[in-house]
Amino acid sequence: MVYIPLAVGDNCLIPNTEIQELNTHIRAKITALGTYVPPRVLSNKDLETLVSTTNEWILERTGIRERHIVDPGTAASDLAVGAARDLAERHNIDLNTVEAIIVGTVTPDMMYPSTACLVQKKLAIPQAWGFDISAGCSGFVFSLTTGAKLIESGAHKRVLVIGADVNSSMIDYTDRATCILFGDGAGAVLLEPAEEGEDVGLIDFAHQIEGFGGDYLYMPGGGSLHPSSHQTVDEKMHYVHQDGQQVFKYAVKKMAEMTERVLAKNGLTGADVDCFISHQANKRIITATADRLKMPREKVIINIEDFGNTTAGTIPLAMKTAVETGRLNKGNTLLIASVGAGFTSGASLIKWAF
Ligand code: UT7
Repeated sequence: MVYIPLAVGDNCLIPNTEIQELNTHIRAKITALGTYVPPRVLSNKDLETLVSTTNEWILERTGIRERHIVDPGTAASDLAVGAARDLAERHNIDLNTVEAIIVGTVTPDMMYPSTACLVQKKLAIPQAWGFDISAGCSGFVFSLTTGAKLIESGAHKRVLVIGADVNSSMIDYTDRATCILFGDGAGAVLLEPAEEGEDVGLIDFAHQIEGFGGDYLYMPGGGSLHPSSHQTVDEKMHYVHQDGQQVFKYAVKKMAEMTERVLAKNGLTGADVDCFISHQANKRIITATADRLKMPREKVIINIEDFGNTTAGTIPLAMKTAVETGRLNKGNTLLIASVGAGFTSGASLIKWAF
């Protein structure tokens, strides 16, 4: 049986038929998964000593109980390397066979070189090329699609896709509206071509950016607009600035819209999905989306309680939770979705391969 992939994005300018000709026979599948969170835990109780908040308020408004944060000197590349090594150990993968590395992150170790370059060096895999993708909390979803295209084009046979963020590096721990939400963490998946006729892999995606969102969630200092100076430090421009309510409203609306869009493109509804993994930003956003899709709670993966919002790390971390709790198995239809700074948003349909 010959499989014609459906992997065509909403914004793509090339007609479906031509892409299908280019891509005939090749579909990307996820063959391995690894994660890493730093050992240090910052609980709601700990936060009670830093800002005027309570464990009860945080749990009720966000669903978060604790998050992991790095010790000084640990950067995004270290978390990414931890996730890649975990993947290699669990699935017996020789990382020397990886041909490309894509890192979704908004907390790179430094402005340049890219975190992908630093990961390549630390893993000592000189044969791999790669790059970073900056898409906020959609970083993993956008990176996964990009990696899948490298496989579908026939250019590569093994692509490592990583979501890694050290949010604690840009959080103001005197701002109770943001410091309670974020944690540090990373996850990695390996993409390889599916065998011909094998009914697993990345099926389709819908992605969008809406630049007006930059007014509501941003980190203004340290770029070319406001280069680092005493003034940018004094004015707290190197911290996350967020209008929580605006982000919340947009996320609830957009998460539902993107998931419905990718399902409708493929003639599916929420009932056809075996497992739903949303970006973990706030438990109330996740459950609102699941309710709109009429998704029973047992199909919805929520681990925000243990990790908080790890930006590009949340979806692979939740994939791990799903696999470990037996709610994501070979052949299952997985729906992933994200909304993040930008605004960026995305949803992807995947047939799980292991
Ligand atoms: O990945 C994308 C990134 N971000 C998000 O997805 C975040 C989306 N937004 C949210 O999750 C929520 O908007 C927050 C959790 C940030 C805030 O929750 P909320 O229910 O929207 O609270 P609010 O901003 O409407 O504030 C309600 C009250 C305010 O007090 P007053 O003005 O009513 O007296 C806040 O000052 O809650 C207060 N408040 C807090 N109280 C205790 C805000 N933060 C806290 C806190 N502890 N940590």
